[in-house]
Amino acid sequence: MKNKNNLTNLIRGGIQRSNFSETSESLFLTSGFVYKTAEEAEKSFKEEKERFMYSRFGNPTVDTFQKRMALLEGAEACWATSSGMSALFTILMSYLKKGDRVVSSRALFGSCHFVITEILPRFGIEIKLVDGTNINQWESALKKKTKIVFFETPSNPCLEIVDIKNVSKLAHKSGAKVVVDNVFATPILQRPLEFGADIIMYSATKHIDGQGRVLGGTILSDEKFCKNVIKPFIRNTGPSISPFNAWVLLKGLETLDLRIKKQVENTKEILKFLKKNEYVDKIYYPFDENFPQYELAKKQMKDGGTIISFELTSKKKLEKKTSFKFLNKLKLIDISNNLGDSKTLITHPCTTTHHRLSNTEKKQLGINENMVRLSVGLEEVNDIIEDINSSIKKTFTK
Ligand SMILES: Cc1ncc(COP(=O)(O)O)c(C=O)c1O
Repeated sequence: MKNKNNLTNLIRGGIQRSNFSETSESLFLTSGFVYKTAEEAEKSFKEEKERFMYSRFGNPTVDTFQKRMALLEGAEACWATSSGMSALFTILMSYLKKGDRVVSSRALFGSCHFVITEILPRFGIEIKLVDGTNINQWESALKKKTKIVFFETPSNPCLEIVDIKNVSKLAHKSGAKVVVDNVFATPILQRPLEFGADIIMYSATKHIDGQGRVLGGTILSDEKFCKNVIKPFIRNTGPSISPFNAWVLLKGLETLDLRIKKQVENTKEILKFLKKNEYVDKIYYPFDENFPQYELAKKQMKDGGTIISFELTSKKKLEKKTSFKFLNKLKLIDISNNLGDSKTLITHPCTTTHHRLSNTEKKQLGINENMVRLSVGLEEVNDIIEDINSSIKKTFTK
């Protein structure tokens, strides 16, 4: 079912009731489906008859989740995958071949960086990394024919913003499809297709579930790409989502807008506190007026998101010891590499999500030892602030 308003789509989009007329989305926890006759099975395999055959490549609960995500994003089609990483890997491996070229921003989540820089070259794919915030670097990299342009915006963990509209224009001239990892922005705060991107990927594990339960991913694009490129790849290689996870994610979508709005509100209160704190040096938040890309962020995002990174200072040397001490003294906020959760989570990207990067790469990206990434949850915001405040005090005073 398609509704004009996305708030209604979040609750009802794609719903397919069974003969029992249930209220909630039905969970078809089945790996396979039966055929009335051998002839029907034959027809289905020949694709003369469209029906569910096997949950590796089609399941009614997964289908409902895909339909709802497509409506939300304004995309023609969606395929769900077992995780965010399998979504990215599926996009790349289904579309690229030996001799192709990928241009990507350097500011990527650790595993995305690994796939692009370590795995793709093994298959004879040329890689070019650029400073995603620098349009001149995109322009010069895209003078050469390219197959895929990939970036996160905002990026993990420094919240770098890539100009979706202008990079997409350059990418299309060089023949590339633009793939945007929209995890930090969520479908509520940014709609990359409206700015010219071709494919959106999500780790649905993050805000879409948002309650720390399941892994999942999605690929959103036009019908042709999904049908001709993604579908046969998933069907035959199997990075498929479990129907149970798709069902949990459908339930997550129902509260996504409410959660994001409240989490953004909390993040902005925390921003105000951090800005006034003498032990906080540098803050990364796209909707902070002092953020270098504030204007661009305002053009393409509806709000600044639920993640804020900041550097702790110490009058002495900046080192990981200070960050670790701060993390270890927290009482309410959990140390976790996950994000987008209703619980406030914190991580030290330099030694966790981005530990694989070389020191030069970390330096280039600003992933310093004194930086922490906070994913703001739904708790009473004064409790979160009090926890940060008390831990900072314990860290910096004897
Ligand atoms: C920006 C970004 N993209 C992709 C992923 C990968 O998602 P998943 O953990 O669901 O595989 C993550 C996970 O942390 C992420 O932060």
